[in-house]
Amino acid sequence: MARRRQIYEGKAKILFEGPEPGTVVQYFKDDATAFNNQKKGTITGKGVINNRISEYLMIKLGAIGVPTHFVRRLNMREQLVREVEIIPVEVVVRNVVAGSMAKRFGMEEGTELPRSIVEFCYKSDDLDDPLITEEHITAFGWATPQELDEIVATTLRINDFLCGLFLGVGLKLIDFKLEYGRLWENEQLRIVLADEISPDSCRLWDVKTNEKLDKDRFRRDLGGVEEAYQEVARRLGILPESGPRDMPGPDTMQ
Ligand code: TMP
Repeated sequence: MARRRQIYEGKAKILFEGPEPGTVVQYFKDDATAFNNQKKGTITGKGVINNRISEYLMIKLGAIGVPTHFVRRLNMREQLVREVEIIPVEVVVRNVVAGSMAKRFGMEEGTELPRSIVEFCYKSDDLDDPLITEEHITAFGWATPQELDEIVATTLRINDFLCGLFLGVGLKLIDFKLEYGRLWENEQLRIVLADEISPDSCRLWDVKTNEKLDKDRFRRDLGGVEEAYQEVARRLGILPESGPRDMPGPDTMQ
């Protein structure tokens, strides 16, 4: 296989130049971090599973008319995506109180919210992804008011759709994080869903038992981390036949 140029290495993924201009290859690693890199580890098979789960969800969202960066899955750990200009804002949706929201307001985890709440964080590891408001986003030019309106409307649609999809397989979507990018298409600038949607970026609890089936098992040392990722994939009907442990590391060129 031809050696490829690495564009960027993040905490859970590596981006390589794609085969055609305007495309990028996303390689999903087994590396896991939490609390902005303070906790580091490996979740065996996570990259394979997140590649599949994200593919599955992006295709489903595409089918209901949500524009996404996803093109196609290439192999066990890689997917081809459109190259976008990432908007430096993490969009978090919460349906139930958990994680940093429970801490911030001294609320009990598991408390139902009266309605879904959208929050924004500025994407900056150096600053620890601080919570921001729409005012910061538009004043600092991270997105225009029109782009932000579109992002919020799309995010709420995605939340409705994903809540139903996960409920259908016995999972409650507690909260999740999305990222968006800009893309030129037919001389028009479009906002598209980017990054990934996986148990790294969602909280998913079993409907009956409230068992956590997401990255909180790693963050909080709850054990059964690999099994939780596999269980989500199994319930969605997409666990790779050959198991998650079957592809070597990426062939990189620095
Ligand atoms: P939080 O409760 O820690 O703010 O997380 C809210 C949701 O966002 C949760 O589903 C996990 C996800 N998330 C990420 O995907 N990346 C991050 O860096 C953080 C902090 C949270």
